[in-house]
Amino acid sequence: MFKTSTQFLQQFTRLFSSASNMPVLEATIARHIKTQPLKGCGILCIQHSLETMVPVIEGLKQLGAEDIFVMGKQYSESSKVAETLKKMIGIRYRQQSNQAALGQFIPTFQRNSALLWHDLESAIASQKELQPKIKKILVLDHGGYATQMIPDFNAFPVIMIEKTTSGISRKDSSYLPFPRIEMATAAVKKTLESPAIAMAVTDKLSRELLPEIYKSGLVCSVIGYGSIGAAITQHLILLGHKVFVYDVDAEKTRKLPKGAQRLVDFTPAIAYSNVIFGCTGKDISEKLEIFDYAPSQKILVSCSSDDVEFQSLLRHIQVKMGNRLSSPTKDIEYHNAIGGSIKILRGGFPVNFDNSLESVPAQYIQLTRSLLIAACVQAAAYNNLTPPSFTVMLDPQEQLIIARDFVEFLKEHASDYPGLAEFDKLFSRRDNVCLDWIIDHSGGVVDKGYDKEAGLVLE
Ligand SMILES: NC(=O)c1ccc[n+]([C@@H]2O[C@H](COP(=O)([O-])OP(=O)(O)OC[C@H]3O[C@@H](n4cnc5c(N)ncnc54)[C@H](O)[C@@H]3O)[C@@H](O)[C@H]2O)c1
Repeated sequence: MFKTSTQFLQQFTRLFSSASNMPVLEATIARHIKTQPLKGCGILCIQHSLETMVPVIEGLKQLGAEDIFVMGKQYSESSKVAETLKKMIGIRYRQQSNQAALGQFIPTFQRNSALLWHDLESAIASQKELQPKIKKILVLDHGGYATQMIPDFNAFPVIMIEKTTSGISRKDSSYLPFPRIEMATAAVKKTLESPAIAMAVTDKLSRELLPEIYKSGLVCSVIGYGSIGAAITQHLILLGHKVFVYDVDAEKTRKLPKGAQRLVDFTPAIAYSNVIFGCTGKDISEKLEIFDYAPSQKILVSCSSDDVEFQSLLRHIQVKMGNRLSSPTKDIEYHNAIGGSIKILRGGFPVNFDNSLESVPAQYIQLTRSLLIAACVQAAAYNNLTPPSFTVMLDPQEQLIIARDFVEFLKEHASDYPGLAEFDKLFSRRDNVCLDWIIDHSGGVVDKGYDKEAGLVLE
């Protein structure tokens, strides 16, 4: 098992107090450090600039990465983290510029991604041809937007790591001629991370945005019953609210926990509830009339990524308001066509991001950070650059090691983590049974190391 609090993370404790509480991350880095797997890699990294990303970036350097080009997202960036990253050697940090209008996060973000690519291009152009430092490019993307803006790097292998299920990822980015390591749909991420996101969302709501959330009796709708939607639903039921659930894929809502009610149509979900939680990673406000003719007061809460969940509505409000945006993350108050009041919290951005140091406590988000390190190590070693294995599963064995480390950590330090007993049972089974389960529940094609037919671990 992993050791806690060694020198590596201690150096961040001075700057970021909670960043020391991530022994799973530390163990993941330590497992690979000897072989320097990222030697020769230039990394373009789109990330939330939060305190727990600093040891990740440092970890990538320690694993041998040559140059790392980092860009934060304007709605989540902590200025202290940005300043720290700017000072780190071997890191080039780009701050995303402000968007000019509501619902315009993505075009602004894409324009900034192009500038980040330009930074990497310049670094490559200045390399000495005989001893180029960068031989391979890893793209740590958020929704496929950065990969979409990639310049012509024909001379270099490029491997993408997808960290989120929103954005253009999946279907629309499948045409991109680069292998993609599927971190977003890794079984261990989807299963173990979601309770932490649900807690972070309700915690942020209760502290400042929507204190009523800790009084029971609200009527809520959860739209999108995937990993995050299911965890949010559980949490709202626990808090004593009435919860309606709608998912475009009716199969997903066939089995719901006691206290949640299934809706087969989107319109009543909006009409019946006071608080609507968007957990789809898609624009759920495309049918504007549903919002424009919604009676009584509604509060819209995004639990997903960027400003995607209520994007059409944000653009509609922008047209009505006309003026330029002063602060894109302010709550928006809007009176619809029949005078109903609609409040969109934090300008439609996910409410657990508020430009503070963290979006989810470090002890929980270390799971995600560790999976990212594992994905980078896997990407750096990945050499099969021809289809059809273009969507590659995050290494099931690494997933298993990280899951077990995380569960052990929780048992010792956070035994009230929702679902911990089941997770413990799930990952205490025999290795091959666990690996089968991970493979069955992860996106992408198994790359190497595990032969499911033979039931053997090959490496
Ligand atoms: N806020 C955070 O800290 C945080 C952390 C992790 C993930 N996320 C984001 O949360 C979002 C959801 O993540 P997930 O892992 O639950 O994804 P998921 O793919 O497991 O679930 C999404 C669900 O939404 C449903 N859906 C899609 N379009 C819909 C529509 N128009 N109407 C109703 N249902 C629809 C899908 O059928 C699916 O069941 C993603 O955007 C993800 O990137 C946010």
